Amino acid sequence: MKVSILGTGKMGSAVGRRLAAAGYQVVFGSRNPELNASRFADLPNVKVMSNEDAADASKVILVAVPWAAALDMLSSLNSHVFGKVIVDMTNPLSPDISHLTVGGDDSAAERLASHMQQARVVKAFNMITADNFPNPDFYGEPAQIMYCSDHDSAKDVARSLIEATGYVPKDCGALSNARYVEGVAMLWLQLAFWEDKGTAWGIKIIDNSSAVAG
Ligand SMILES: NC(=O)c1ccc[n+]([C@@H]2O[C@H](COP(=O)([O-])OP(=O)(O)OC[C@H]3O[C@@H](n4cnc5c(N)ncnc54)[C@H](OP(=O)(O)O)[C@@H]3O)[C@@H](O)[C@H]2O)c1
Repeated sequence: MKVSILGTGKMGSAVGRRLAAAGYQVVFGSRNPELNASRFADLPNVKVMSNEDAADASKVILVAVPWAAALDMLSSLNSHVFGKVIVDMTNPLSPDISHLTVGGDDSAAERLASHMQQARVVKAFNMITADNFPNPDFYGEPAQIMYCSDHDSAKDVARSLIEATGYVPKDCGALSNARYVEGVAMLWLQLAFWEDKGTAWGIKIIDNSSAVAG
């Protein structure tokens, strides 16, 4: 299975490394592929290309760029992502990470979906920090990753990717729920960094309802 990850920063690298370790072919998209390729030279199943070539290379594309850049970037790649699954990892954070700049009755994921109506957008991988990501066992508790989408096929992809990284996938329903899943990430950031709780903890849904798929 091949996936492309746009952005070679903290979160893209963390997810890409775990997917590569799970046997995925990982193609990073980068503004500076030559510069960044050496960072992944230890992984034979990882390549680094331009964002355009990376978007062409796979049917599944993870977006790991800052929210401020995501809409413009994906608009410029629209013809390259036609019909594909877009896994939106972004959080629409203010520059000082004090609040979300999109929310209430909207979300980053919904905005991406409205820009790319021929793609199938799924929100995922936004509620765990890059530093915590390498260890999905949070202090003896298997950690969850929430995902949501309006497309069952995109949810299937997200579930497979989440499981490959060692996390427990948690279906959070329709894509419009991304406004709340992004809020979960903001709650974590608020407590961790603004209320000095630190980073050694996670958020999970405790669910005894068979009506909600894992
Ligand atoms: N860090 C976390 O813990 C975390 C957790 C969950 C979700 N997220 C979300 O994941 C996304 C990436 O976060 P990050 O922490 O990995 O950020 P980061 O370390 O700053 O990396 C973002 C990467 O995106 C690319 N990029 C930066 N500016 C760009 C632009 N103007 N146009 C196109 N590409 C650009 C760069 O890759 P190239 O130089 O290779 O082009 C950069 O390395 C954000 O939306 C963030 O909210 C982050």
